[in-house]
Amino acid sequence: MNSLTITRPDDWHLHLRDGDMLAVVVPHTARQFARAIVMPNLDPPVTTTDQALAYRRRILDVVPEELNFDPLMTLYLTDETSSDEIGIDACVHAVKWYPAGATTNSSRGVSDISRCYKVLEKMQQHDVPLLVHGEVTDADVDVFDREQVFIDRYLAPVTERFPGLRVVLEHVTTRQGVEFVKESSARIAATITAHHLLLNRNALFTGGLRPHHYCLPVLKREQHRQALVEAATSGNSKFFLGTDSAPHTKIAKESGCGCAGMYTALAAIELYAEVFEEAGALDRLEAFASFHGADFYGLPRNSDTITLLRQAWRVPDVLSFDHAELVPFRAGEMMQWKHVG
Ligand code: DOR
Ligand code: ZN
Repeated sequence: MNSLTITRPDDWHLHLRDGDMLAVVVPHTARQFARAIVMPNLDPPVTTTDQALAYRRRILDVVPEELNFDPLMTLYLTDETSSDEIGIDACVHAVKWYPAGATTNSSRGVSDISRCYKVLEKMQQHDVPLLVHGEVTDADVDVFDREQVFIDRYLAPVTERFPGLRVVLEHVTTRQGVEFVKESSARIAATITAHHLLLNRNALFTGGLRPHHYCLPVLKREQHRQALVEAATSGNSKFFLGTDSAPHTKIAKESGCGCAGMYTALAAIELYAEVFEEAGALDRLEAFASFHGADFYGLPRNSDTITLLRQAWRVPDVLSFDHAELVPFRAGEMMQWKHVG
């Protein structure tokens, strides 16, 4: 197969940042995807509906005129979030639970989920999904075990306490995470990133330390990558595309204490196409990328299409913008598929 046309996909987990960076990254996503669930971990975070609506306008301001792109906004859950924030505006599609200290700009995240039970109750009533960064932050838990421990200690109890709440285990990275989602009710789903499908943890150390392969949750062993590929390509509607594309400047990545995140938005759908082709499942890419997420969120599937051609191209070494540079995933390497419109 040398050409692949699928219903236009959506990205159900995306970081767009703000300011100069926003204008650089939005066009890359808007070229491929019709909609994206936009993460609220700005500094300061997007904790109120008013802030989310203002952020949405800033995003729309930098969408190129010829593109249609609908940013789906989220709120950042804190110990102090008021349940009055839930269900105010249809532009807010979900609430994100970052355990405090788990990742980029998460210091104002949740320190004790029981303090948020009133908010979760209201979300359950209004059918607003809870999006979860599923990692514990305890220093005594090995960094590679943090997802699994989080599921046992926090996620399983919360889903039991709020059986009507829809929950997305974002960027699932482990076999245990996949099993948990599969065995849970239809209200529990997961997004899977391209980078966790493509790389195992060896990629952090290939010939030296590779800061551009550092993300959170951190890359896992090969057996976990295989479990993710199986889940993504299985046709199970609980699993859908969420890039977690997370731009940081080159300097912030190539540092003594580098930031977590991979910038995959430049060639997101092509990266997923590689994974599905390798698994012999290109015919299932469309459902994973374009149907399952929309169905879960109760939104219409997109009606237009995109086309990929089997055409080799080289990913740029770096993307330059005002006084900063951004290193895309696969920088300087060849891609097999090319999105052509
Ligand atoms: O790698 C990551 N980068 N994981 C996250 O959870 C956050 C993201 C970011 O915002 O940089
Ligand atoms: Zn993320």
